[in-house]
Amino acid sequence: MSTNKSFSWPNWPDITDDATTLKHYLDDPDYVAAKQKITQMFGQESLVQGWIKTCTELEALAKEVREKREGIFPVIEMEDIARGLDAPEKLDEIRRIGSFIVRGVIPSSEIEPIFEDLKEYIATNKDEITGYPHENPAIYCVYSSPAQNNLRSHPKLVDLMRWANNLWDYSESDSDTSPNPLVYADRVRVRAPGAEFLGLGPHIDSGGLCRWTEPVYREVYSDIFSGNLEGRNRYNMSKRKDADQGFYSRSGDLASTVLRSFQGWTALTKTAPQEGTILLYPNVHLAIAYVLLRPFFSPPADETKIMDPHEWTFDASGSWFPGASKTGGQCLSPSSHPHLRLKECLLHVPALDAGDTVWWHSDVCHAVDPEHVGNIEASVAYIAATPTTRINKEHMRGQYDKMALGLAPPDYSDGVDESKFKGFQGFEGKEALFKTLMGY
Ligand SMILES: [Fe+2]
Repeated sequence: MSTNKSFSWPNWPDITDDATTLKHYLDDPDYVAAKQKITQMFGQESLVQGWIKTCTELEALAKEVREKREGIFPVIEMEDIARGLDAPEKLDEIRRIGSFIVRGVIPSSEIEPIFEDLKEYIATNKDEITGYPHENPAIYCVYSSPAQNNLRSHPKLVDLMRWANNLWDYSESDSDTSPNPLVYADRVRVRAPGAEFLGLGPHIDSGGLCRWTEPVYREVYSDIFSGNLEGRNRYNMSKRKDADQGFYSRSGDLASTVLRSFQGWTALTKTAPQEGTILLYPNVHLAIAYVLLRPFFSPPADETKIMDPHEWTFDASGSWFPGASKTGGQCLSPSSHPHLRLKECLLHVPALDAGDTVWWHSDVCHAVDPEHVGNIEASVAYIAATPTTRINKEHMRGQYDKMALGLAPPDYSDGVDESKFKGFQGFEGKEALFKTLMGY
């Protein structure tokens, strides 16, 4: 909910345990096995302890959200980052919230022609480009426009990616892994005024069930399953770098195969609450802990007691993982994840200017603004911060090889051969730079 009082919770799908949904989970033995495995490894007592602590902290977070509203999101100026920003408290705050805004990354004198170029590329080639929603696209499946390549390789954005990657902890003994940024190719969003968009409700990227089942990924969250909220760390690159988000699915989108330390976008136009921006859940630790523990607990029959975590029953035998699937991301809803208080705590980010950027940790719950009541197009280019890791490097090299030919990046099956597009330039003149940025 934004500070704008007219925002009401949109018609995003609710996640319910109706018979059809439960049957889907019951029919696949991997779900029940996942629950049993974790119960066996960490024990009922730890899981219950984590559940109570997490739900209690979520109540305190809701209070903080009521007080701070969207002021809870840390905002930094690019100039300050360029000067070396020495502000340990601010950095701690960014790490706690798990998302942040950096203003003034690309000057408007540069961003305006880039946006015009992008629009022209889309308009000229529109018959060949797919988009979502199909009838009236807001997200365009283009990957190789000169506008995108200019942005991705812009020195300020590359510096910012490195800075964002550095918010994670790295082990010095691991020479394969570093904050040096790789460039992950993604799509663009151009939303016409008035265009509703309900396609991306509350969700977490980077995989679904694999968080509980893929051994390395599960280990990333051992602090949560052990009930050790004090020791939690969502920034341990040594643990996270080898987690396989593509354990069940090698296709991209919600279950991208690449680790982005922070997913992000660069605003190509002004955006504002209810004008085609993004909503973020302002705490990375609590939301993911709650999502991971939620399948182990059943709600009380008496609905008036739902918000009391002590009234929930530990249940290691079921197979329902609310909102999780093998091949998509992790979806969330107010009824399936009540203690997150999504209607209250999922917040629009503040108004942004063209050239500003938003970044959110790969475990942060987010949703695309369902509304756009403004009167100009709202446009963003998805450009993430992607660290150098063994898995990422391998992916990026494959990405370079495909994109050098004009083909869509390997995570996206919806792209087409852009080498035939009017205005396509590929990596022309920047081959060496893109080779470096793509792992060669
Ligand atoms: Fe997402």
